Amino acid sequence: MTKAILLTLLLLPFAAIAADTATPAPAPDAALGRRLFNQKCALCHSIKTPSKSTGANLAGIVGAKVGSTDFAHYSDALKKSGLVWTEANLDTYLADPEKRVPGTSMKLATAKPEDRANLIAYLKSLAAEPAKPDAAPKS
Ligand code: HEC
Repeated sequence: MTKAILLTLLLLPFAAIAADTATPAPAPDAALGRRLFNQKCALCHSIKTPSKSTGANLAGIVGAKVGSTDFAHYSDALKKSGLVWTEANLDTYLADPEKRVPGTSMKLATAKPEDRANLIAYLKSLAAEPAKPDAAPKS
């Protein structure tokens, strides 16, 4: 009896993986990400300088060091995390900010993996736009 329960518990993760591969996630969609951003993130975040007082400008965030924008109110927790916003770090932070960076002041979690993938695709597409760090300053 106990053996059977143990076996079931052991096999459960494999069943979950099998189900995952059976229905592959759709490719990340930046257009859907943009819609989601406007619904859920734009309230606090801008996509250009200056940052809003409620959240950072996220245009160049993919690949940037944490806390590198002109946003004035980063938490110590976030600043001290020393993270670089790789896609993997963005994914875990957006999934559960408090778990990834305990003490962060951003509370909004994005539970669905495909929502996060779409958001990250959108953020990446913004970085492709002109403003390069080494571009000549505009007068
Ligand atoms: C209620 C306001 C609010 C909303 C809504 C919000 N954020 Fe944030 N976000 C913040 C704050 C405040 C910080 C700074 C956190 C800290 O310093 O600990 C932050 C930080 C971040 C960072 C790190 C920025 C950096 O410069 O290092 C990312 C990335 C981010 N948010 C993405 C998102 C995304 C994507 C969404 C939408 C799904 C979102 N946020 C929704 C307030 C918000």
